[in-house]
Amino acid sequence: MPERRLPARLVVLVSGSGTNLQALLDACADPSYGAAVVAVGADRDGIEGLARGDRAGVPTFVAKVSDYTSRDHWDRALADRVGAFEPDLVVCAGFMKLLSTDFLERFLTLNTHPALCPAFPGMHGPRDALEHGVKVTGATLFVVDGGVDTGPIVAQVAVPVADDDDVASLHERIKVAERAMLVESVGRIAREGVTVDGRRVRVGTSAH
Ligand code: GRF
Repeated sequence: MPERRLPARLVVLVSGSGTNLQALLDACADPSYGAAVVAVGADRDGIEGLARGDRAGVPTFVAKVSDYTSRDHWDRALADRVGAFEPDLVVCAGFMKLLSTDFLERFLTLNTHPALCPAFPGMHGPRDALEHGVKVTGATLFVVDGGVDTGPIVAQVAVPVADDDDVASLHERIKVAERAMLVESVGRIAREGVTVDGRRVRVGTSAH
């Protein structure tokens, strides 16, 4: 985010229930937070994440891969839809698609993953952590790169695994911590800036 604007303009991409999006919408209602959700985008219709955007009075859009001739075509169209809102930051919040390097070069893009990266990347972070028998897992906010949950880490939060957890109970406990981490980090990035230097991400006063 080379030039900081206040409030910082966020485009949030979702594929599901959108509770992380809701946490951002709630935070942005306070002007001192320093960010505004200017659009919510999705890769599918009829999801609660889009309804949350509608209820908040935020413009929404849908770009479905099946509506385009190729994955590249979809990715370019998505980038154009996002770009129309001139975001300072794109936040993937439960967005279940990989983005191209062209997209990622155009927009500083963050994603949140329900595990402590680099452990348990992919679609089933809570399940894989539970199956591995770890006692502590968590959530990771990272700068999206070309890989699957491999990008430079912005923030992490640890969450204990309970003996009687199942995948759903563990994921729900992770999501409580994940939402708080997301709100805290995005607000600080909006107000104080961020620098990404290789794998090292600095948020706040040391960032330029
Ligand atoms: C989050 O745990 C996110 O990390 C994962 O899917 C979940 C999305 O939750 N990729 P929600 O749609 O924000 O409620």
